[in-house]
Amino acid sequence: MTVFLVGAGPGDPGLITARGLELIRVCDVLIHDRLVADELVAEAPADAIRIGRERLAQEEINRLLVLYGRRGLDVVRLKGGDPFVFGRGGEEALALAEAGVPFEVVPGVSSLSAVPASAGIPITHRDVSAKVTIVQGHGPIDFRSLAGAGGTIVLFMALAGLAEIAAGLVAHGLPPATPAAVISNGTTRAQEVVTAPLDEIAEAAAGLASPALFVIGDVVGLAAALTSVREMIALAS
Ligand SMILES: C[S@@+](CC[C@H](N)C(=O)[O-])C[C@H]1O[C@@H](n2cnc3c(N)ncnc32)[C@H](O)[C@@H]1O
Repeated sequence: MTVFLVGAGPGDPGLITARGLELIRVCDVLIHDRLVADELVAEAPADAIRIGRERLAQEEINRLLVLYGRRGLDVVRLKGGDPFVFGRGGEEALALAEAGVPFEVVPGVSSLSAVPASAGIPITHRDVSAKVTIVQGHGPIDFRSLAGAGGTIVLFMALAGLAEIAAGLVAHGLPPATPAAVISNGTTRAQEVVTAPLDEIAEAAAGLASPALFVIGDVVGLAAALTSVREMIALAS
């Protein structure tokens, strides 16, 4: 009799947590993000209510969570990555708390580290980067502080703004040769990785599909040495 805000992981359905999968398998209602893997949606019981392939406004999702929660049903709200990393999970939790509906957050593997890892990029690495700055790539960006942040920069939802972001960072002092990567559809069969110096990344990554993560910093230079066996197999196939 709870609403579970469950992280689905970064794309590969095998990267959901054991607890998340267990909850999907016994839920009464599954309300999922549009991009969540079909394999995970298929894990819900045959008679479960499934909502999610249609585009729903956030207010409508909040309303449905409260509605089904109040009916005493077990509701899984399945969200890409981790619910609390650019996932609006906090807003849903607040709506439930305000309505007095019991809820639980089941964290997920965020694309934040999983997607770079899948491309052979550790977002921290001893003697290379001991700091990560996480940024929403659309909307206003404080380029001055971001260019001076040091360490690794990970930008979400930045695909449409690659050229503007790279130019803004270079204009505020980040060296144009700083290694950068764009990873599209990370951890899935459709994964594509483009690496280039910061001042060339927008052109190099033109045409990549969403969702994509933009990673900037010297850790990107480790990718060539750390490309996993899994990725090599994917590239060969
Ligand atoms: C609304 S945010 C959700 C993030 C999610 N809650 C998480 O923890 O990963 C969506 C953005 O996450 C990034 N993203 C999510 N999955 C991705 C994937 N498989 N490959 C690349 N980027 C991904 C992209 O920047 C995308 O625009």
